[in-house]
Amino acid sequence: MGAEMDYEREIQELKRTLNAVILAHYYQESEIQDVADFVGDSLALAQAAARTKADVIVFCGVHFMAETAKILNPGKLVLLPDLKAGCSLSDRCPPAAFRAFKEKHPEHFVVSYVNSSAAVKAMSDVICTSSNAVKIVNQVPKERQILFAPDQHLGRYVMKQTGRDMVLWPGSCIVHEIFSEKRLVQLKVQHPEAEVVAHPECEEAVLRHADYIGSTKGLLDYVLKSPKREFIVVTEAGILHQMQRGAPEKTFIPAPPDNGCSCNECPYMRLNTMEKLYRCMRDKTPELTLPADLQAAALAPLQRMLEWSQ
Ligand code: 13P
Ligand code: SF4
Repeated sequence: MGAEMDYEREIQELKRTLNAVILAHYYQESEIQDVADFVGDSLALAQAAARTKADVIVFCGVHFMAETAKILNPGKLVLLPDLKAGCSLSDRCPPAAFRAFKEKHPEHFVVSYVNSSAAVKAMSDVICTSSNAVKIVNQVPKERQILFAPDQHLGRYVMKQTGRDMVLWPGSCIVHEIFSEKRLVQLKVQHPEAEVVAHPECEEAVLRHADYIGSTKGLLDYVLKSPKREFIVVTEAGILHQMQRGAPEKTFIPAPPDNGCSCNECPYMRLNTMEKLYRCMRDKTPELTLPADLQAAALAPLQRMLEWSQ
């Protein structure tokens, strides 16, 4: 298979023969976003997975996202180009430790961020994503105390927005926790007209410099609507592709992490490539599978999220 192979054309052809839909997250490389049928944030992708009529779902994202698609479509073939595309946030919340944490707070209503394993989801009352977290927490009965997992930064942001006190699992994302406040401030000084938009998985010290905080889709909508011409974007740099596409006349500057790099990419998301996407469709593997009992247990909190998001 030479470098001259036209993956785009081959993938389009396989899409037709398999009756497949390709769902891609904004953090995927640009070529994958361009070949996908639908590009979205984790909520929009879960909603797209829930309503698809395709026989095969090819998920270009990370493991927990493909798991969500499988839970919502137990009878369908769900493919993930690289099964090792995990998530640090999900990995930092092992199910056994989460069970013990939950047992210490037996009366609490459990809200879990979608960036968690199916086993953690199965122990939850409702799931949320970064775009609906405030809406979901606002719907938890007022008399119930809340346990929120696994992202502490999103949790803190939601506490501020809703005024609800929550017990937080101390998790974080290796991509969003390393944005440097110092380098962000330096960038703001160099670009005094720029608006700062940030994902709520960032630390509070970074978020306090943001003009707008939201999910990847929220950030995209905001920059496209804003009358400003320049933006500092504090999230994974893959989102810049859709921003630049939607507003080629505007300037988008990726915020720098504290590791010396000029922008920040999720190492898990970037495991997927056009070649792996092509191969997984050609060979119908790797397939995302889950034990039936786990699948069934994780469905109810996910369905509750979809209902509460309407
Ligand atoms: P979104 O909910 O904005 O898609 O975020 C997903 C994610 O993994 C952020 O790191
Ligand atoms: Fe997980 Fe962070 Fe990558 Fe999102 S950016 S998939 S939270 S490691």
